[in-house]
Amino acid sequence: MSDRSDTGGFDASGIDEDAWTELERQLEATIPVYDKVNKIMTLGFDKGMRKHVRNHAKPGMNILEVGCGPGSFAVGLEGMDLTCLDPSAEMLKVCKRRVDEIRSQKGETPAKYVEAIAEDIPLSDNTFDRVFCLFSFRDFKDKKKGLSEIFRVLKPGGQLVICDAGKANWLHGLFGRIYMATFVQWVARIVTKDPNHPWKWLARTYTHYGTHSYYKQLMKDVGFEEVKARLLFPGMSSRFKARKPEL
Ligand SMILES: C[S@@+](CC[C@H](N)C(=O)[O-])C[C@H]1O[C@@H](n2cnc3c(N)ncnc32)[C@H](O)[C@@H]1O
Repeated sequence: MSDRSDTGGFDASGIDEDAWTELERQLEATIPVYDKVNKIMTLGFDKGMRKHVRNHAKPGMNILEVGCGPGSFAVGLEGMDLTCLDPSAEMLKVCKRRVDEIRSQKGETPAKYVEAIAEDIPLSDNTFDRVFCLFSFRDFKDKKKGLSEIFRVLKPGGQLVICDAGKANWLHGLFGRIYMATFVQWVARIVTKDPNHPWKWLARTYTHYGTHSYYKQLMKDVGFEEVKARLLFPGMSSRFKARKPEL
């Protein structure tokens, strides 16, 4: 990849430490209105996208969500052993409150919470049936390292499912950048009432995000098979699937 210095620390393969630290600060600032802005900027389609990803898991499975944020996805997982991982203690605090409250109402045991980055997962090899990443893959510091760690903790035959802002190819990415630079910015500004709202940073990560073919190749390089990518209706988000080979 090109030298990241001319892009403020970002490229499709990852994010420099300084830029990532600031991005994390900005992500934490989204917490109070995270779900509200997401719902408006996706015209309510975020619910369907999360459901689509959730349908890849079955009751009884051992699940890891990498980059769980404030728990917007994890809160809907039922009847599964769940581990939520995020580098932000603030995100994990909100996630734990939300997720464990719902789990206790359903008579389920609390989930596990791990403060860590995808690139260095402090969990054992061959542990999970599914690993989910929703709107967090774009923020990994080192995408290949993160994918390798996810591969390691998946059981043989286990599956990774990623959902993130869509960039099917260069042309689709151009439309995406226009959407991020206009509609998303207006929504975030109106909801937060702050001209320096944190969604400016999300637009930046999207600008330097890679295409389907770029990440499909990265997943294959790490050892995944059955690697697939598609846009989810109405085309704002991408869904990647990849399987760790059986032994
Ligand atoms: C936009 S939130 C996504 C929240 C949630 N998964 C959802 O469904 O909306 C992105 C999350 O990714 C986390 N993150 C950023 N860099 C990460 C990394 N290198 N490894 C794991 N998580 C990371 C952030 O702390 C943040 O909580």
